[in-house]
Amino acid sequence: MTSRSAWLAVSLTIAGFALPGPAAAADAARGEKLAYTCQGCHGIPNYKNAYPIYSVPKLGGQHAAYLVIALKGYASTERAHPTMLSQATTLSEQDMQDIAAYLSGQELKPTGKSVGTLPKAAQTCVACHGPDGVGILPEYPNLAGQHEDYIRHALAAYRSGQRKNAVMGGMATALTDEDIRELARYYSSQRPGLCSTDEIRQLGKCKGL
Ligand code: HEC
Ligand code: HEC
Repeated sequence: MTSRSAWLAVSLTIAGFALPGPAAAADAARGEKLAYTCQGCHGIPNYKNAYPIYSVPKLGGQHAAYLVIALKGYASTERAHPTMLSQATTLSEQDMQDIAAYLSGQELKPTGKSVGTLPKAAQTCVACHGPDGVGILPEYPNLAGQHEDYIRHALAAYRSGQRKNAVMGGMATALTDEDIRELARYYSSQRPGLCSTDEIRQLGKCKGL
């Protein structure tokens, strides 16, 4: 292997492209019980993170596979967040799978339509997140309807390296503050969109689906 292809192999693995190992089927009923504490933040519409202030991300309608990748990111500190670190490190792989199966409810599906005009800076994003904000693979997060301020926060964190990810780190370095504002505005307004998990608790899916 040349050093370049070795580097690629490593970065693709980090990005979560590697095939997952064998895992027992996810048990959403078990996940519901384990997700009780999560609802305290993710199940309250428009709940805010303090210092800095931004909205707690919506998880309803998200890809379950991505939720597991994100939880592992907090546990490994690739994603720096003290609360989510302490939440994620108490969970086993099976716990994560079960919670993700429950909290995602019904995953968003691509619509092929977009709301508003695609910003120029989104031309590279659509290859993975779609024009409608629905990730084209289960490992790519859905952005449709996500809180605008959370998307801004996430992009800034990839750009500064506070959130480490080979793919998104590369994408975010090219973005200006204005690009980030436009991208967040665009993706947060796509519908149907993600929801806070109180809707999953009540309906088993996002109201808009
Ligand atoms: C005290 C509030 C709080 C609690 C409790 C909490 N979270 Fe979070 N969660 C957050 C915040 C804030 C973020 C955004 C962190 C960041 O900036 O990366 C987050 C991020 C996440 C993400 C990443 C979402 C994305 O779009 O990338 C997942 C997945 C997640 N939480 C799952 C859970 C699960 C599962 C539980 C319960 C075991 C839980 N959270 C409990 C506040 C909380
Ligand atoms: C090659 C595929 C790919 C491309 C192209 C791409 N992304 Fe991503 N994106 C990902 C993956 C994979 C993740 C999850 C990374 C992680 O685990 O933190 C992600 C994460 C994100 C997140 C965090 C979501 C959350 O819930 O925390 C945002 C926001 C985002 N991407 C926006 C963009 C934007 C805007 C662009 C274009 C400038 C873009 N992405 C281009 C694959 C891609």
